[in-house]
Amino acid sequence: MQITCVGVVGCGLMGSGIAEVVARAGSDVVVVEADEVAAKAGLARIEKSVDTAVARGKLDAATGERVLGQLRVVSDFDALADRQLVIEAVPEVEQLKVATFKRLDDVVEHGDAVLASNTSSIPIMKLAMATRRPEHVLGLHFFNPVPVLPLVELVTSLLTGSDAAARAVSFAEDSLGKCVIRSQDRAGFIVNALLIPYLLSAIRMLESGFASAGDIDTGMVQGCAHPMGPLALTDLIGLDTTMAVAESLYTEFKEPLYAPPPMLSRMVDAGLLGRKTGRGFFDYVR
Ligand code: 3HC
Repeated sequence: MQITCVGVVGCGLMGSGIAEVVARAGSDVVVVEADEVAAKAGLARIEKSVDTAVARGKLDAATGERVLGQLRVVSDFDALADRQLVIEAVPEVEQLKVATFKRLDDVVEHGDAVLASNTSSIPIMKLAMATRRPEHVLGLHFFNPVPVLPLVELVTSLLTGSDAAARAVSFAEDSLGKCVIRSQDRAGFIVNALLIPYLLSAIRMLESGFASAGDIDTGMVQGCAHPMGPLALTDLIGLDTTMAVAESLYTEFKEPLYAPPPMLSRMVDAGLLGRKTGRGFFDYVR
């Protein structure tokens, strides 16, 4: 059975990006976001991204117009009852994600519905065990900016059924046109297990006075052809999210390379979260 009715929980940076690509692919999307301000900001982000895609010739104008018509942002969880796939994209806080999966288990009526998490690092098994249907729970991890980056990590737990995994892969590849890689259920999966120690190393380098933020980033852009430097990338991901992922990795592996440096903790405490707050390692006009 082809997936055409999709739900997304959370309309932040990742939730809105996921909702946008799912609507662009022609599916009907319901986004649940309880916070009115976040819902409004998420919709504005989607509108702006669709306009950019049309202006850059990545999307035809008719599809661009159709996207917003295929997408509803609501505050009521019950609107997810008839969904065939729900992708959770709430903040990277374990208790919040576990509570969301408990709620999804109660609300989603479709017996075969796939319950997916966009978590960057929290074990899928913890989310699966919050439900009475662990065979239908898996990770579908997208990358920011979601409309631009083609990758999705598929993460299956020890209890994920092969049918749910196959349907999720078919949806990501055939409907969304994404490139899927598979990872076992280990904190950080493939990409963040490699990326986060690199970002933390750049922060430690800055913290120790080894080099300036600008020179660290220029080094990796000009010397290694990365599209952006590690500090600008941390600003894009969000310092709070980077720290949460680092903490999950450290909890899982107890390796010093995953431990968040004090500079990162202090900046998160200060609300210097990167692009979304206008200031992180660099300043942004909002
Ligand atoms: N829809 C579709 N395409 C779009 C678009 C949109 N809304 N906005 C831009 N694009 C396209 C552009 O047309 C352009 O395509 P082209 O290369 O074919 O011309 C391409 O995307 C790049 O766009 P821009 O020219 O506007 O921007 P930049 O060249 O400055 O690139 C960037 C910006 C895409 C953010 C790039 O710097 C980049 O890829 N940075 C790295 C991002 C990254 O590593 N993300 C992963 C973060 S980790 C993560 O998310 C996991 C989490 O768990 C932590």
